[in-house]
Amino acid sequence: MRRLPAVSALCGLAALTIASVPAAITSPAGATASLAAARPRPAAVRAAAGEQKQAVAVGTGGAVASMDLGASRAGIDVLRQGGNAIDAAVATASTLGVTNPFVAGPGGGGFMVIYLARTHQVVTLDGRENCPQACTAGMFTDAKTGQPLDYTNASEQPLSTGVPSMVATWAKALQLYGTRSFAADLRPAIATAEHGFRVDQDFQQLTESGLPVLQAYPASSWLLTKDGGPLPVGTLLRNPDLARTYRLLARYGPSYLYDGPLGRAIVRADDHPAITPGNMLITMPGIMTTSDLRRYAVRVQPPTRVSYRGLDIYSMAPPSSSGSTVGEALNILSGWNLRSEPRATALFHYLEASRLAFADRNAYVGDPRYVQVPLRGLLDPAFAATRRCLVGSTALTSPVAPGDPNPPYHGCGSSAAGQPLPPEGMHTNNIVTTDRWGNIVAYTNTINFFGGSGMTVPHYGFLLNDEMTDFDFAPPAPGAYDPNLPAGGKQPRSSMGPVIALDHGQPAFTVGAAGGSTIITTILQIIMNHVDFGMPLPQALAAPRVRQRNSATSLAEPDFYNSALARQLTSQFGEQFTLSTGPILPLDYYPGDATGIQFLGRGLAEAVAEPVRLFGGSALVVHPARGH
Ligand code: DON
Repeated sequence: MRRLPAVSALCGLAALTIASVPAAITSPAGATASLAAARPRPAAVRAAAGEQKQAVAVGTGGAVASMDLGASRAGIDVLRQGGNAIDAAVATASTLGVTNPFVAGPGGGGFMVIYLARTHQVVTLDGRENCPQACTAGMFTDAKTGQPLDYTNASEQPLSTGVPSMVATWAKALQLYGTRSFAADLRPAIATAEHGFRVDQDFQQLTESGLPVLQAYPASSWLLTKDGGPLPVGTLLRNPDLARTYRLLARYGPSYLYDGPLGRAIVRADDHPAITPGNMLITMPGIMTTSDLRRYAVRVQPPTRVSYRGLDIYSMAPPSSSGSTVGEALNILSGWNLRSEPRATALFHYLEASRLAFADRNAYVGDPRYVQVPLRGLLDPAFAATRRCLVGSTALTSPVAPGDPNPPYHGCGSSAAGQPLPPEGMHTNNIVTTDRWGNIVAYTNTINFFGGSGMTVPHYGFLLNDEMTDFDFAPPAPGAYDPNLPAGGKQPRSSMGPVIALDHGQPAFTVGAAGGSTIITTILQIIMNHVDFGMPLPQALAAPRVRQRNSATSLAEPDFYNSALARQLTSQFGEQFTLSTGPILPLDYYPGDATGIQFLGRGLAEAVAEPVRLFGGSALVVHPARGH
């Protein structure tokens, strides 16, 4: 293994600007990814070596599901060593940051929904990135034209990076609810980064989708590409830089990032990016300061709660829009008995409930520290009734206008024309864990759009997020109210937010998903499949998806798009569909993968991951039940 220079020496190397990047940076001198040459240690790569991914696992003693076998294995190892669900979630998330750096890792942020078995409480951690203090409402508009910037181009700029909040979330979760040290829970990730893992098809296609922006940065192309293309499937990829980063965090704690050398390296990388000579893609450096990092704090928040078919459905409050939008749609659906309706009618009601809830999401949800979010109204069944009564016998015309969630509520709201959905990307990951004590963690986290900003922090081995493009770039009309415009310290609205469902106080299931704003529709559809249509959770996850987000057509997976049900929804109810492609490239329309756990009683849990989407996820349990 290479000996790494001291941190101070590395920091000197990283101080490069857009204007003056020496060609030497493109050489392996500073970058430390190493491919295939070294012999793997069997323990560290056993997930990749022989063990097969499985989408469903039933057993006792605890369970984990994530999008990656190595990451799920890390969580299970921690549970076996006596850790609890919170420890397992941190081990899984940090390992996923190694094996799938395009959707996870120290450069991003996320939301954790936690069920504490001892107190029967659901709590949430808001670990969303803040916009740097220098952010302004017009930061994503073109100064010359006053028009919003192109979404994809803006997402590729260091300007789109928010304060990385992942490490603070892990540390806070462990401090409040974990049983082991940060160092102990980072051990599997360190081992995986050090000894390597095998590049799989998902890794390859994610590299492919972000190739131009990865190539814009010497540190990214060195770590994640080979000969100008993605690493071949099966490559043993080691990331000693990230192993060292995790080791330093284990030793010094999160202050190594938030008030230390790693933070300074992040700020330097963001504000003075080292770009590949001749590359024209990167034009907008970041505006982050070390004081933005110092002021970052994870917040413990009460969850959202709605009652649906006798279950208590808990999720994430703003700045996430998941809890309010899933909750409002479920409240609307509560007015129909979906189980006894013909399936096409039930799906019509699902699509319309989602359409209306999305109109309200876009109009009202933002960072509640900056804007007044009428959360109580959005989750009020009486408000839902004013939305439900707009649904007749044919599909509403989108974009529909938002309702008024402020009481008193009168009759039917308006079905006037509203504003279209702003552009949003689709990717991220959801991890679920449970332990022998019955604690549950559902954790959606991300660095955002396929590989975040594409920039690897030089010598630290991880990608930075581009989460700030979750802000609206401009109000829906000049001067119109918009709760989701950028501001200094503000968090952009998110769609991330997994669900924990309790049945008379006892865990029933948890589910969460990837996929930008389709996270909300995926969760809704899985709940409907499971609770209303009686599908076991694995089938509820696997079933073909269709999503309506207040747009003219609903995005449908091929199996749904080509179904008799879709034809009936069009002929009988006027619903229109667009075909979404996936799980192969292009990824931009891929339906986000989901994970969940169903609690079967007497300590038995069924962990569920995607069977097919994005090449399938990994579900594992500590003690597999006989026959499973
Ligand atoms: O917070 C959100 O809703 C998104 N930033 C989640 C990540 C995502 O799916 C976007 N991906 N391109």
